Amino acid sequence: MPADKPDRPDSTEIRIADHEFRRFRDFLYRRTGIVFSDAQRAYVERRLTDRILAAGSRSFSEHFARLLVEPDELERLISAFTVNETYFYREDYQLRCLTSNLLDRITARKRRGQPIRLWSVPCSTGEEPYSIAIWLLENWSRVDSWDIEIIGSDIDVRALDAAQDGVYSERSLMRLPRPLVAKYFTAMDGGRYRIDEALRGSVQFSQVNIIDQADTGRWRDIDVVFCRNVLIYFDDMARRTAANNLYDCLAPGGYICLGHTESMSRISPLFHVCRFPEAIVYQKPWEDSHA
Ligand SMILES: C[S@@+](CC[C@H](N)C(=O)[O-])C[C@H]1O[C@@H](n2cnc3c(N)ncnc32)[C@H](O)[C@@H]1O
Repeated sequence: MPADKPDRPDSTEIRIADHEFRRFRDFLYRRTGIVFSDAQRAYVERRLTDRILAAGSRSFSEHFARLLVEPDELERLISAFTVNETYFYREDYQLRCLTSNLLDRITARKRRGQPIRLWSVPCSTGEEPYSIAIWLLENWSRVDSWDIEIIGSDIDVRALDAAQDGVYSERSLMRLPRPLVAKYFTAMDGGRYRIDEALRGSVQFSQVNIIDQADTGRWRDIDVVFCRNVLIYFDDMARRTAANNLYDCLAPGGYICLGHTESMSRISPLFHVCRFPEAIVYQKPWEDSHA
């Protein structure tokens, strides 16, 4: 007897036509700033097909229509296309710059009681904002005398859930000195580690799309933005939009730290370039000519 045809299509039954690929790619770009080239079509199609099947849609057009009205499916789709690669103490030369230079300059202009606001955006699964917290506890002697707010934001809600959960693999912890792993983490089954409750409580997580001014507009008076390793996935226009949005979030004189392959000089003329012995960072001028 012939087997019944399964209710759900398999991956070979989902076909993405050229115009559908272009439509989807434009849609993803407008929502996230992330750019995919023609050469990445197979990669995009594989991920998209996986999402179509997992969501129980029968075709690209059915799924695309759902994306417009189902925010949960849109979030799952965005998660499928973000690159969340990160680890503790990544680009730690900037953390050294923070405690050797930036914080002295920031606190010199602040009154006691005014918070210092540090923003890791995008923070992916939390390694970056937690690294900032650990670094300050270990390396900044004035940590107890200032009110420090650490904020972690990302477009990807699944990454943010993992950040809040605070459970990490050995791979995430490979650059963190072992005594610090022992000091701030509890070993769990399966070679995983949970970050201490107190550290989890020290970072405030929220969803933010850095190319969406309505999202970034909720943040003001940030002293240092760590915006590392996301602009590489954007085109020039999305990079400029992100730079303008983050500029508006910074306090006058505030700093922005990019990833080591990224350079603000090629993106926006709004910032001053500051060359410190440890790192090059970008400063919003004290007098805001952009306002
Ligand atoms: C490679 S991770 C970088 C994490 C961390 N900053 C680091 O350097 O290790 C890139 C992150 O950018 C996030 N992302 C992509 N587009 C974004 C957008 N438009 N707004 C906010 N976050 C975005 C992704 O979800 C991903 O978690």
